[in-house]
Amino acid sequence: MGKQYGLIPRKVAAVDTKYRTIKTEIPNAQSIRVIEQLRKYEPKSMSGQPPVVWDKAQGINVFDAYGNKWIDLSSCVVVANTGHGNSEVKKAIRDMVDHGLLNNYCFPSAIRGELTQKIIEVTATESLNKVFLLTTGGESTECAIKLARTYGQKKGGQKKIKIIGFEDAFHGRTMGAQMAGGIPKGKSWIVNLDKDMLQVPFPNSFKYEWADQRNADYSDERCFEIFLKNLKNEGVDDFKNIAGIMTETFQGGWCQLMPKGFAQKLRNFCTENDIVLIYDEIQAGFGRTAKMFGFQHSDIVPDIVCCGKGISSSLPLSCVIGREDIMDLFGPNEMTSTHTGNPVCAAATLASINYLIEKEIIKNCEKMSHICKGRLNKLKEKYNKNIGFVSGIGLAWAVILVKEGTKEIDCDLAHDVVRISMEKGVLMFAPVGAGATLKICPPLVINEEALNEAIDVLDEAIAQALYEKK
Ligand SMILES: Cc1ncc(COP(=O)(O)O)c(C=O)c1O
Repeated sequence: MGKQYGLIPRKVAAVDTKYRTIKTEIPNAQSIRVIEQLRKYEPKSMSGQPPVVWDKAQGINVFDAYGNKWIDLSSCVVVANTGHGNSEVKKAIRDMVDHGLLNNYCFPSAIRGELTQKIIEVTATESLNKVFLLTTGGESTECAIKLARTYGQKKGGQKKIKIIGFEDAFHGRTMGAQMAGGIPKGKSWIVNLDKDMLQVPFPNSFKYEWADQRNADYSDERCFEIFLKNLKNEGVDDFKNIAGIMTETFQGGWCQLMPKGFAQKLRNFCTENDIVLIYDEIQAGFGRTAKMFGFQHSDIVPDIVCCGKGISSSLPLSCVIGREDIMDLFGPNEMTSTHTGNPVCAAATLASINYLIEKEIIKNCEKMSHICKGRLNKLKEKYNKNIGFVSGIGLAWAVILVKEGTKEIDCDLAHDVVRISMEKGVLMFAPVGAGATLKICPPLVINEEALNEAIDVLDEAIAQALYEKK
């Protein structure tokens, strides 16, 4: 069971810098009423985040209503790629509202035309040439599973229905997405799990030596042989019976790409066996990895790409981008969604994508990524007994806290570091992954000064958490 943060206001040192202000006790006493109201009326699962009542968010900052201001390292769960409250995004939303179209279902609209064309243009591949707009990430991964299985059956009959995923993978919390994901705890409620949805180990270098490219005996060949062996161990004797293989571009709790050679072998394997390769880029897409899409790091092109979160930097919009022959498997009115390409969400998304390109935000992301790499690895050296792993790509970084000198994760320590950082004006979401990963994923517009300041605070917070633990 996840943990809640305490609601007793603590006196903390005042902070007043260009990027942070802490001038009240934390959590703020007046804000407790709102948190208690939410804890009363919402399911418990909604109560796991640090107790900051968001009043406004702008650029890289989150503000409460009591004069406190945080540097946001969460991007609101990896959404605010072009910054919170981006002025272009806000203008596009306002213009669409004032223009007078709030929804239009699957009836045609000009904004849906513009946005779908833009998404295909920025995807910039020959094969990915159709896009289906949806609302949530989970909706897009469900749709990808459905498309892969439909394609499989068309090509190989009712045997070609296996969906292969990876251990620890997260694709959303709906039934199909959880079955395709690799988190057993999340799907135990389903009981009758689909026996044709299987997961095998992801090449995760923290967990598996065979996947650690720093080892002298590492090879892509061996890594891929292990993948094939694991498929056989799961009873997949005929690879032709696989309809789809789904992977996150990087797994959220580790922020680690698949080794490039492995990804290329996977691509070839899918082509040879007519398997739909699905990349879940819901976190990785639209600049987060310092490329427009994370799959570009591996010089491969998947058959389906799922996007969400940072695509709009704001309002809910997700999509499935795919090969025409897969995307067109359903006839008119057979694959729809009530809010597909909602015009206000579509306007926000188009504005955010344009901003990302015109202001060269991806270049900034790459620059900031080097700072994260250098500074977070230094932190690992400094706290070498308590930081077990640091990895990242672009502006998605994972710092995993462990029990002194072991590889056993330390959820309590991670929880405390997030709390103390909040008290000092740096906001992260609650630890992710197996429960001890501090996730560093600020808006891609963050500058060097603010990023360094946030990492200084993280350093202080780790020191204080370790001191308090003694
Ligand atoms: C990789 C990945 N896939 C899918 C999802 C599900 O997206 P949503 O919460 O919008 O349904 C998430 C959300 O955290 C995610 O990180």
